[in-house]
Amino acid sequence: MAEGIDLFEAIDTQRAIRYFRPDPVPDELITRLLQAAIKGPSGGIRQGWGFIVIRDPEIRRKIGDLYRTGSTFEIRPDMTAQERRVYTAAQHLEDHMDEVPVLILACIQAVPGATVSGGSIFPAVQNILLAARGLGLGSALTTRQTRFEAEIKSMLDIPEDVMTAALLPVGFPADGSRYGPTRRRPLEEVAFSDRWGRGWQDDTSA
Ligand SMILES: Cc1cc2nc3c(=O)[nH]c(=O)nc-3n(C[C@H](O)[C@H](O)[C@H](O)COP(=O)(O)O)c2cc1C
Repeated sequence: MAEGIDLFEAIDTQRAIRYFRPDPVPDELITRLLQAAIKGPSGGIRQGWGFIVIRDPEIRRKIGDLYRTGSTFEIRPDMTAQERRVYTAAQHLEDHMDEVPVLILACIQAVPGATVSGGSIFPAVQNILLAARGLGLGSALTTRQTRFEAEIKSMLDIPEDVMTAALLPVGFPADGSRYGPTRRRPLEEVAFSDRWGRGWQDDTSA
């Protein structure tokens, strides 16, 4: 199995990969991703999750057909270059979803009355993304499978009380598709000290 990389290197460079090589992904790597997923936290440690590893070409073709018939991303002239790149890549992914070697559909049992069932599945999803980065695989968090929720649930025998949370394409990054560093709003803008708006102060840098 591929050696992992440093945790913080993985966090700093994990980025959405949407272009993949067609090469198959060894099962042992997929197992490692799933093992990472189930280490995630869940409300009341309910673990009402389910992860469907989709490799069957026929099922992938049907899913690809759903994406091809769905709405496309709108790329508007007022978008920044970064937004345009993201939407172009996201559209490419949706147009080629069936060519991605592995799709992992992360699902969660909907708990009546629970505020956000998503809170109990997205930590597991993030673990998959980080583990993929660590193993030299690419992936991206996508959620637009919800447009075809009923069709996908019926196609994959997903129980009534379980909802799909994210569809993760998994494969080796295509040539020219690189990991981060990712670009984000600076810490000073989004992290506060004691009160909203009071920029985070790191005592060690004073
Ligand atoms: C809730 C959520 C939904 C997302 N849905 C999609 C999606 O449907 N398709 C897609 O390509 N990326 C999707 N993304 C990925 C974001 O576009 C991505 O995290 C963002 O562009 C940052 O990319 P980077 O990590 O490569 O910098 C989603 C991310 C989140 C958190």
